[in-house]
Amino acid sequence: MTLLERIGRRSGVDIAIAVDSTALGPALGGCRMWPYPTREDAVADAVRLSGAMTLKAAAAGLRLGGGKAVIRVSPGPRPAGPEREKILRDLADAVNELDGRYITAEDVGTTSADMEVLARSTRWVVGRPGGSGDPAPFTAAGVGVSIRACLRHLYGSPDVAGRSVAVVGLGAVGSRLARELSAAGAELVLADVDPSRPGNAGVHEALRAAVDVLAPCAMGGVIDTRLVDELRCRIICGAANNQLADDGLAERLAERRILWAPDFIVNAGGLINVAMELDGYDAELAMARALDLERVVGRVLRHAEGARITPLAAARWLAERRLGSVAPVAA
Ligand code: NAI
Repeated sequence: MTLLERIGRRSGVDIAIAVDSTALGPALGGCRMWPYPTREDAVADAVRLSGAMTLKAAAAGLRLGGGKAVIRVSPGPRPAGPEREKILRDLADAVNELDGRYITAEDVGTTSADMEVLARSTRWVVGRPGGSGDPAPFTAAGVGVSIRACLRHLYGSPDVAGRSVAVVGLGAVGSRLARELSAAGAELVLADVDPSRPGNAGVHEALRAAVDVLAPCAMGGVIDTRLVDELRCRIICGAANNQLADDGLAERLAERRILWAPDFIVNAGGLINVAMELDGYDAELAMARALDLERVVGRVLRHAEGARITPLAAARWLAERRLGSVAPVAA
């Protein structure tokens, strides 16, 4: 783990870049711009998120390591204009210090326009306008095939026709996923906190619906200790990051015989897409790689069953095996 902490010489803001691992390739991870209360909070977030990126890239079979950058801005309106430009130039300096070991991208609080500004001062940036574009179609496609892998694992057939799916969160990813599932003949329960969404069944109800698949596509922490006992779905497979409020809930889901597909593999389509900028972007190849998540998820679920461990533990095992930090075990 490399941790680079800097105070921007132009902007005076705190910048931290955590490089968790470069064992498989350069550490790629977004840059978060957020009003963290303290510098320590910002650094802790960078460290935590960079570790998650290592697992995600390794489990998805990418030749990438895990890293994350954070910028601690003041509370209130987000920096704009020349002030924002100074911050971004300071970030570019920090990225350049790592000389290609860390590659930055858009994350919470930053935009693809920011990546364009960064690109004027560093070559270690992806996700610029005109690059790999909107990741949501690739993420949605990856979630769709992950659902197929879960259905195959549980019912013997990956076919979604006639299966019921509750999609909770109808934003960029959820709305696309819902369209694709509907076209494939699934019966849908749709919900979003935004009551204006058509066909909205209510979030509380949709999370507890008796369906084959619950696809959380909104915020993290949605599966908490209370909800886990009230679920009536057979499978959970969706785009949302950090779906489990606590990792221990993976055990509880297994006890309840609910198949949970680890979010950090299921939603890797966006990362797979943006990472392709490094090899020369090709949308068709990016989509083919996102669709390959069906095989990866299937493998994780089989390993979990065979080894009598949770899918979360199996996904970690897969990632760690690729990282070479544990001895290979027969799958
Ligand atoms: P988005 O911001 O476009 O959509 C989120 C939707 O969820 C909005 O329609 C919002 O009204 C709704 N929502 C917010 N809180 C909710 C709640 N408590 N209950 C129900 N609905 C709620 O976001 P996007 O891009 O579709 O991403 C969805 C999730 O997938 C997020 O957790 C994101 O971190 C994750 N993800 C997205 C990727 C992408 O390519 N966009 C890649 C990997 C992960």
